[in-house]
Amino acid sequence: MMNQTTEDCSSLPTSHRVSLLSNDGRLFHVILAQQFDRDLIDKLCRLAEMIRSIAESRQGSDFLRNQLCHKRAMLYFVQPSTRTFLSFAAACQIMGMPYNEVRDPSTSSEVKGESEADTVRVLSQYFDTIVMRHPAEGFAETMAHLLNGMRRTIPLVNGGSGKDQHPTQALLDIYTLHRSMGRSLISPGKPNFAGNPFEGKTIAFVGDLKRGRTVRSLVYLLTRYPGVRMLFIAPDELQIGADIIEYIQRMDVLHEFRDTLQSSVSECDAIYMTRLQDEHDLQGESKTIDYSRFHLTQDMAGQFKPELAILHPLPRRQELDVALDTDPRAKYWEQVQNGMWMRAGLMSYIFNVDATIIDHYYRDYAV
Ligand code: NCD
Repeated sequence: MMNQTTEDCSSLPTSHRVSLLSNDGRLFHVILAQQFDRDLIDKLCRLAEMIRSIAESRQGSDFLRNQLCHKRAMLYFVQPSTRTFLSFAAACQIMGMPYNEVRDPSTSSEVKGESEADTVRVLSQYFDTIVMRHPAEGFAETMAHLLNGMRRTIPLVNGGSGKDQHPTQALLDIYTLHRSMGRSLISPGKPNFAGNPFEGKTIAFVGDLKRGRTVRSLVYLLTRYPGVRMLFIAPDELQIGADIIEYIQRMDVLHEFRDTLQSSVSECDAIYMTRLQDEHDLQGESKTIDYSRFHLTQDMAGQFKPELAILHPLPRRQELDVALDTDPRAKYWEQVQNGMWMRAGLMSYIFNVDATIIDHYYRDYAV
């Protein structure tokens, strides 16, 4: 494990940042979407799918609960969360890993003047992993470096870092896209998470792309699939950040920017909706933006491709018409559940029980 001071490291080369988060070349902390190459993404999708099948039976659930019953997790969520928190909690339960939570720092010794860094040092003594959601960009990465310097280091998983990244959401989004757009090569009706189902496909990102961390992380993962075309549909003021644009240009990803949704719907194979992230407004500046041009409505359904996949990380407001919920192309409820299986897969991988699960699957479950 390499060491790094706990200074801001966003200016370091990405490859260096990634290596600081690995242990012997294997993923250790999960902080940035750039840590995931294609092999690892596909492997995690397969693992999620296997865990999902194994968990269907009583015997399978018992097997899974045995895998991580000797580990403990801390869910440190000091920013609001429903799905990410609950799906990590459910993933811990599936894998038999007891967890504890801090969701409100006003109940911790931070009110007595303890620094956040000391809080993390303390947590690392009780738990075997920390899943962290925090409002400050870069904080989770800094804390991962701090943990690297401790005698007992434990993996830190980023459950959302300010406006910056949300890598585990991006993993479940890819898993959902794979399940919706992938074709089976192993067993009929089941996606096999091999091959590139996104080649030649158009994926649109819609809404507040400037401050939506889920889109930023998902773009990084999708660049691992050559041939994907991206549409960034957003008000000018909320268009995706220059760092992401520079990255996709460097990766030679086909992309376009648009400022209205209506005329783009018919060319999309997937549409990823997002809400206005106005909690990041400094002075209510987004109140003047007409967001209605970025609403996906039932009356557009006539233009949808038959195999379109509609995703949304949730929570939604008016940008995604509830009338679309019953359309088979709406994948956002499945997306919620997929998060639980993907996070169970990720925990298995982090704690090195993935090979045991894969063996078990091929012995007893593969058809
Ligand atoms: C998102 C988040 O927190 O970034 N939600 C989630 O994790 N499922 C999206 C949002 O808050 O809009």
